[in-house]
Amino acid sequence: MKFYLIKPLLLSLMLSAPAYGQSTVQQIGNVSTVNINGQQVNIKLDNAEAQVSVYTPSVIRVRIDRKKLADDFSYAVTGRPLVVKTTITQDDNQITVVTDSVRAVIQKKPFSVAFYTPEGKVISEDEKGLHTSWAGEAVTTYKKMQEWEHFVGLGEKTGPLDRKGSGYTNWNSDVFGYAATQDPLYSTIPFYIGIHHGLNYGLFLDNTYQTDFNFGASNNRFSSFGARGGEMNYYFIYHKKVADIINSYTWLTGKMPLPPLWSLGYQQNRYSYYPEAEVMRVARTLREKRIPADGITLDIHYMEAYKLFTWNKDRFPDPLKMNTELNKMGLRTTVIVDPGIKVEKGAGAYERGKNDGIYIKYPDGQPYTGQVWPGWCNFPDFTDPKGRAWWRKEVKFFAQSGVSGIWNDMNEIATWGQKMPDNVLFDYDGKKANHLQAHNVYGLQMIRASYEGAREQFKERPFLLTRSGYAGLQRYSALWTGDNRSEEDHMMAGVRLLNSLGLSGVAFSGMDVGGFTGNPTVGLYTRWMELGAFTPYFRNHTQLNSKSSEPWSYGEDVLDIARNYISLRYQLLPYLYSSFYEATQTGMPVMRSLAINYTHDPRIFDWQFQNQYEFGNGLMVAPFESTKEFGKIYFPAGKWYDFYNDATQAGGEDKIVQLNINKLPVYVRGGSIIPVQSLVQTTSQLPTDTLTVHIYHGNSANSFVYYEDDGKSYDHEKGGFYKREISFLPAKNQISFGKPEGKYKTHFKFIKLVLHGFDANNINVSGRASALTSSEYGWLTAAASTDPTGGAYQPEKCRVKYLVFNNEPNLININY
Ligand code: GLC
Repeated sequence: MKFYLIKPLLLSLMLSAPAYGQSTVQQIGNVSTVNINGQQVNIKLDNAEAQVSVYTPSVIRVRIDRKKLADDFSYAVTGRPLVVKTTITQDDNQITVVTDSVRAVIQKKPFSVAFYTPEGKVISEDEKGLHTSWAGEAVTTYKKMQEWEHFVGLGEKTGPLDRKGSGYTNWNSDVFGYAATQDPLYSTIPFYIGIHHGLNYGLFLDNTYQTDFNFGASNNRFSSFGARGGEMNYYFIYHKKVADIINSYTWLTGKMPLPPLWSLGYQQNRYSYYPEAEVMRVARTLREKRIPADGITLDIHYMEAYKLFTWNKDRFPDPLKMNTELNKMGLRTTVIVDPGIKVEKGAGAYERGKNDGIYIKYPDGQPYTGQVWPGWCNFPDFTDPKGRAWWRKEVKFFAQSGVSGIWNDMNEIATWGQKMPDNVLFDYDGKKANHLQAHNVYGLQMIRASYEGAREQFKERPFLLTRSGYAGLQRYSALWTGDNRSEEDHMMAGVRLLNSLGLSGVAFSGMDVGGFTGNPTVGLYTRWMELGAFTPYFRNHTQLNSKSSEPWSYGEDVLDIARNYISLRYQLLPYLYSSFYEATQTGMPVMRSLAINYTHDPRIFDWQFQNQYEFGNGLMVAPFESTKEFGKIYFPAGKWYDFYNDATQAGGEDKIVQLNINKLPVYVRGGSIIPVQSLVQTTSQLPTDTLTVHIYHGNSANSFVYYEDDGKSYDHEKGGFYKREISFLPAKNQISFGKPEGKYKTHFKFIKLVLHGFDANNINVSGRASALTSSEYGWLTAAASTDPTGGAYQPEKCRVKYLVFNNEPNLININY
């Protein structure tokens, strides 16, 4: 009886319940029509439209939207689809897109996408039952979490090297003194690399709304990526090597331009050096104390009441004269710029911007006004060609003041209160967008305008630095990781941030060495300065009212150690500049997470070893907190040499080493080729005419592209460079210096070949036998006096053999 009563009740409840799945989460549905068009397939679905297109044999793009797909537009992507041999076929159940290197299979019921190797191994596939769906305006694609899958990259993200188990948000944020685990930070690069079963792939979600990534956080089923608005628009990249994935990603989003050589030198900064006498005191002290340096950076106090495109004339009466004087001392000036333009009737930049109608606005046409350093400000619309053109013209101000670098700050946009309204409108290059869509690209478009302005107005290659950005930012600028803290875990997190940026297309990156907020301990400062020498952009910076942070601020011993490492960096410049050249060609970062060259060695993901990285092709750095007395280091496959004394170590093993605050653990992989020069105090000083090339014996062949040019002009774009491949071929007992390419005449008349770990006593240079000379080589030149922890410190030496010969401009074969 009871049953009869309950049944109709249940039935009516079931009927009146909303269609649970559809009203709260909208699934993508089945394929209804398919239109194959060359390398592209357009698909109509129950609830959406999709398009799958082949960009290169290894790059396939997937677009999905509930409405008609919009005209193609991207601030990140500059690579256009190549003509690719593609076969697209379909049957009742699936569509198959095949290139020489990857196969995409699109299921029709429901629509889902999977990628396979040509041999049929699954690289990535939609999670069955979840696929792509919408919750409100937010779109998400769910991929099956593969067994033992690791995830690396995603740009400026805190957390471990392996992002499995973590989730992240991209919403560019001004995060003063952020926590070492905080997310999001200042920039958005929605690109990661997945690794499993000996395979690796890249995935780039090109959507400028807030994006969210989940690598198995709070779930045991999937990894997902999605955006709070706009299309699902992702590029899937498959290569056998991570380096090639980075190359394809930077083909899509652009390669970095070659930076000026001076920007690789040491940069001294603080918030803020002023007046002029103080700047000159710092400059002279750098020279007096023989601390090699190439740059001084001026923070917001150089301006008149923080008004853009002004100099405070009391503090800096003649900026051009000061900057010229600094240039004569081999120092370049970089100045900060913020996007906020002070609203002040009659003020130059404000009025000019108003006249040109370049400020972002509310829907009623009133400019958006927010507060930042100068007080109430308006903000140029860098997503408007008119706004960028205006800014490019303004940049002339810096050219006229003898400035060489532009440091773009607060461009998230940062405004006090950090709650910029959603209804602020942006031109978005004619497409019109609200703040939700434009927020994450504002910084990118600001550096685009600054870079293009500097290219137009500066006589020489400019240096650009930014805090905020979006995928593709490497086309315009270097990036630093903002307002970190003077804490040990920040230094370590900073290493991982830079490594992650490198995996995500940004080769030129740096962190505030010494820490921005707070005061470091003597040990932390020392270790950070050592480490800074092994980061792409090496700048010491600290906040207002903190303790001084110049290399001489922590006593004589620390000064000696800092000088040692800065000097070492200057000797390594030929190696470093060549590494930057490589980044301009292939996107290969200068600071290389071990996930690039040792991708499938699971030990590199171990938390104990996750901070280790390669600096260029051959050096491996093992960073440790300054408080540690012992450290465990993992040596990946190959043979390794202790950088300081040539003690050898087999690969595939870990080892506990005793740490010393005087010394950053650095190792060299067997087979490495490391060109160095004599010590200079600035890159505007010429080294001696001997290029010293260190070769470390190993069992695998290796090669290094040595690159040189004038370091400052654009002549290299017209062939004004000197490029030469140096090879080490152990199977043939041969080293060779290939025929140089390019129109630039090398500065180096002689080559000093220094052999580490070779048995030979004689070598043959181009057929002529010569005896090698034995000697000791010390990498740290200036002897440190005493160790701050008390123990005496003696720089170590390597036993090497060497030979000097003429740097002939033709193939030089050396047999040993
Ligand atoms: C921001 C920057 C910092 C700078 C300060 C003053 O906090 O991140 O580097 O020193 O503003 O301009």
